[in-house]
Amino acid sequence: MENLALFFFFILLLLSAFLLPSSSHQYNALFNFGDSMSDTGNVRIGRLPYGMTFFGRATGRCSDGRLVIDFIAQDLGFPLLPPSNERESNFSKGANFAWVAATVLGFDFFNERGLSKGLWVNASIYIQVDRFEKLLPSICGSTQDCKDFLGKSLFVVGEFGGNDYSTALFFGRSVDEVTTFVPHVVRAISDGVERLIGLGAADIIVPGLLPVGCFPLYLSNYHTPDPQDYGPRTGCSRRYNALSWLHNTQLRRTLDDLRRKNPAISIRYADYYSQIFDFAINPLKYGFTAGALRTCCGNGGGLYNYDQGRRCNDKGFTVCENISTHVNWDGIHMTEAAHRVIANGWLYGPYVDPPILTASLKS
Ligand SMILES: *[C@@H]1O[C@H](CO)[C@@H](O)[C@H](O)[C@H]1NC(C)=O
Ligand SMILES: *[C@@H]1O[C@H](CO)[C@@H](O)[C@H](O)[C@H]1NC(C)=O
Ligand SMILES: *[C@@H]1O[C@H](CO)[C@@H](O)[C@H](O)[C@H]1NC(C)=O
Repeated sequence: MENLALFFFFILLLLSAFLLPSSSHQYNALFNFGDSMSDTGNVRIGRLPYGMTFFGRATGRCSDGRLVIDFIAQDLGFPLLPPSNERESNFSKGANFAWVAATVLGFDFFNERGLSKGLWVNASIYIQVDRFEKLLPSICGSTQDCKDFLGKSLFVVGEFGGNDYSTALFFGRSVDEVTTFVPHVVRAISDGVERLIGLGAADIIVPGLLPVGCFPLYLSNYHTPDPQDYGPRTGCSRRYNALSWLHNTQLRRTLDDLRRKNPAISIRYADYYSQIFDFAINPLKYGFTAGALRTCCGNGGGLYNYDQGRRCNDKGFTVCENISTHVNWDGIHMTEAAHRVIANGWLYGPYVDPPILTASLKS
């Protein structure tokens, strides 16, 4: 009997040892910046079926359910992040400044290039960090108190950039022209991160761009008949993925520079690209029996079930029978099932290094 009690005692000890490392990740708060990949309700567009899987109502999230940032919040033990423009919210555990259709660069950049009519919102990274700064006194008080508070908070800055490129592409600009935006975009992300560091941020995750060439919107709107334009194993558009790749390469290089300049600050890259690319190569590994390139909610039929003029929520749309067999939700955003896999790769490895939660108690 005594032995048994001792045995259980040891099991408990072992379990608590397992649980303890996660307590070193007890962040004060979680703050997020970005676009529709992580907006949790600053822009209340959409209606059901958006939100149907988890919320049972549209929340502004561009998916059937939770986003990557929602899973990160939940696994860190935080409530789902309140949108920053929800005045009645309590932001003491964090806030979300991401905005649907947000670009990294501001109005002037696009205006100078004759593209301002393509902008839906003014919610550049500069503006998002401004809003954050304005909210700080209500969250953590004085500048010094905020430095201490933010020094023990987690910041996720991105994904950012997809809308800078698409704004010009949708205006008919060439990929070559859009490629010249990359250094400007990456520089603005880096400036945003530096401003956050100046305010006290010390633990920052910076996601890269998605492989946009694997998304039905790009595959269908920029369809070409030449099989050479598509990856033989993925079916993704090489040209558009090359744009994402270039952005990510330059972003990673810039983050290296930032680390050298700020040796006391943790700055980690989060890799969307590799995981989504793997969805396209090995969809069955994740239960995505519909493949990675077909939209679940749509009205287009065809190879990608996507038609720019008749999208999810437009007249006559349908939702696939089992959403978790799809990576893609509406042509440019992903399903909750895909977000869960991506979040796991950031929380427990290998797509953030070191992973956000190294104590691997996966649920
Ligand atoms: C916000 O929530 C925290 C606990 O999470 C609490 O201590 C604080 O008093 C709340 N603030 C307001 C204004 O309700
Ligand atoms: C964004 O800001 C510019 C200049 O401040 C303004 O002219 C433009 O109308 C704004 N656009 C939107 C969508 O609010
Ligand atoms: C839906 O698809 C997922 C992933 O392929 C699978 O695990 C699940 O069993 C399916 N559910 C139903 C009701 O068929």
